[in-house]
Amino acid sequence: MRILKFKEKFSEGIISAKQFDREDIDYILKKAKEMIQIKNSNILQGKILATLFFEPSTRTRLSFESAMYRLGGNVIGFHSGDVSSIKKGESIADTIRTVENYSDCIVMRHNLEGAARMAAKFANVPIINAGSGSGEHPTQALLDLLTITEEVGSLDGFNIGIMGDLKYGRTVHSLSILLSNFDVNIYFISPKELRMRNRDKDFLRQRQVKYKEITKYRLILSVLDVLYMTRIQKERFIDLEEYEKVKDIYVFRKEDLDDTKNEFRLLHPLPRVSEISPKVDSSEKSLYFKQTFYGIPMRKALLAELMSDKS
Ligand code: NCD
Repeated sequence: MRILKFKEKFSEGIISAKQFDREDIDYILKKAKEMIQIKNSNILQGKILATLFFEPSTRTRLSFESAMYRLGGNVIGFHSGDVSSIKKGESIADTIRTVENYSDCIVMRHNLEGAARMAAKFANVPIINAGSGSGEHPTQALLDLLTITEEVGSLDGFNIGIMGDLKYGRTVHSLSILLSNFDVNIYFISPKELRMRNRDKDFLRQRQVKYKEITKYRLILSVLDVLYMTRIQKERFIDLEEYEKVKDIYVFRKEDLDDTKNEFRLLHPLPRVSEISPKVDSSEKSLYFKQTFYGIPMRKALLAELMSDKS
């Protein structure tokens, strides 16, 4: 019953975290938790997933592909715009109208913020937004929530720091939207130039999310349950001199862990550049490689919900 409802509600696909209410989040977290137990199945046998990646990716593309294979399905696609007909001048719309004939669902990453939404307009199969410019990356945020709820706790009442490039980082946009469904206090930690965009803050204010914007993290480390760090998004800067000014603004070091509570956990969507010292990796408080593990059950759950014929 609920499977049909999810499939119906998300028939266009997963474009934005704003599509999810608390019931949808709880439902997909439950399904993803079930998927942790089911390593392989044939629930998507005969189905084809297309992965169209116009921007670099390691975790997102490979985990979607691995998830699809683990559910008995097949994958087609490309991992660079240079090898598709886009290079010859073809539009996204024409590409989508073609690939939908070859697949049951399309996962797309593109440098344009509106690309996934636009693709959904032209497709008769679900589109999954695997990152659209500086806009959103909803499935990363879902796997982040899965990591937190499995490894830290139920989220409600949590103090969560979100730190780094909050202007261009698409994962933090989707994450804060999903968090607006929970009773959390958010500390947005960034240099002034890289604060959350007004449109994202307007949304959070409308949802009455409790948040503060600060530039230094050390003073609040002791109150945090979770710190979500991000990379400064070099490729989005128009002026590389501006990037140089902020690129090393935050480096989380092993000593910083001394100021955190026992339950504190550090997350990062990866790739990391220099913002977390490798010396932090071995701490049980570091969850960023566990996040890569949780990408598989979350993506298995999403693919099964969107494509499975079973109810
Ligand atoms: C992120 C992305 O592509 O937005 N990576 C990911 O999908 N895990 C984060 C980033 O590139 O900084």
